[in-house]
Amino acid sequence: ASQPDLALRGTLLRFRGDPFEMPPDEALDIETDGIVLIRDGHIVETGPFARLKDRLPPGTGLHDYSNCLIGPGFIDAHVHYPQFGVIASYGEQLLSWLERYVFPEERRFSDPGYATQIASAFLDALLANGTTTACVYCTVHPESVDAFFSESQRRNTRMIAGKVLMDRNAPDFLCDTAQSGYDQSRALIERWHDRGRQLYAVTPRFAPTSTREQLALAGALLDTSGTLFMQTHLLETTAEERWVRSLFPERRSYLDVYDHAGLVRPRSVFGHAVHIHDADLHRCHDAGCAIAHCPTSNAFLGSGAFDLFEALRPDRRVHVALGSDIGGGNALSMLRGMNDAYCAAQSHDRRLHPVQAYWLATLGAARALGLEASIGHLTPGIEADLCILDPFCTPVLAQRSARAESVADLLFALSMLGDDRAVRATYVMGVRQPRPRGWARET
Ligand code: GUN
Ligand code: ZN
Repeated sequence: ASQPDLALRGTLLRFRGDPFEMPPDEALDIETDGIVLIRDGHIVETGPFARLKDRLPPGTGLHDYSNCLIGPGFIDAHVHYPQFGVIASYGEQLLSWLERYVFPEERRFSDPGYATQIASAFLDALLANGTTTACVYCTVHPESVDAFFSESQRRNTRMIAGKVLMDRNAPDFLCDTAQSGYDQSRALIERWHDRGRQLYAVTPRFAPTSTREQLALAGALLDTSGTLFMQTHLLETTAEERWVRSLFPERRSYLDVYDHAGLVRPRSVFGHAVHIHDADLHRCHDAGCAIAHCPTSNAFLGSGAFDLFEALRPDRRVHVALGSDIGGGNALSMLRGMNDAYCAAQSHDRRLHPVQAYWLATLGAARALGLEASIGHLTPGIEADLCILDPFCTPVLAQRSARAESVADLLFALSMLGDDRAVRATYVMGVRQPRPRGWARET
């Protein structure tokens, strides 16, 4: 039995093309008073309200978001759900922050009840921020993966996640072995990969916490199916880079450690890459892998500022998407990610146009992940995961938005001044998501 059709009215944010390959203002195809028509969880049509309003199938529900922007749900290409509780922890940079805050918290995820509680709160918070797909690290415990995918399945969200692999240089209580990590991952892939909307990512934490043997087995896991994802960290800080150099003196570069294990390929997502250099960018371009740019985290942990436009250099362009990286990042909002990406580009004296930033958090991310046939844009046939943004949600934003010269300028104001308060509604497969408790606005 199918649900009645649903029509959403508002300003539609569609892409005409890639804003890094054409003038960004022309890359956005704006329908000022438009309708998105949804049937059976998918977008079936978009167009002007004036043309479509009298042609809607009988019984179609109309949700009015006039004065709001209707776009695809945000995609967060790098985030740790078990770190939700230790978000905003004071006073450390990466390696000591992991020891002091992250590892003790991740230990708790051997308890399926705790894992379920945090997974549920995390997913509610993601949706309240308009994020409908994320690449998610669980912990070393298989229970943490079952808890996460179960909660995602319940919400019918399209999530990519996996068990962290870690067999050295971490507390004993967080270590697997090369073999147990492989076996547990295989079982989880069997249970979750491509089940409903869930997708599995083989997830070695980063080179310092895996032996050569474990990295090689991660590559072997990827060889079992061409649709699996891989996620790990790369070149986030200079101290980490030095550590990797001392652990793998035989390899040309940090990226080469992963490459040697067969981990550099399409659907591989490397978090951060703040300190990446030209040769490795060439290799990423050739391999078709993606970098998750995590500017909020890089600022919070003091890791440095990723040079986005260098990675996107047209002669060897690398796929880039945005990541919040909580708890390294201190915000889940992809609007905030767009803000921090703008600031990181500023520090390299480059201007990130708002339409470009929006692309990195939506269709550009879907393309980087090889998912643009399913998500990331308002095209007929695409899954109806939507984020509706309200540029008038707070006094500061409202007065700025009232002066906006264009929809691109509105997007810029939203990204500089907005957060979850600007998310008027989130739809997952055409279903509006309930607000977490304590949320005032509703239509
Ligand atoms: N590098 C290895 N593990 C982590 C992590 O949990 N967060 C971040 N930001 N970097 C890492
Ligand atoms: Zn991370």
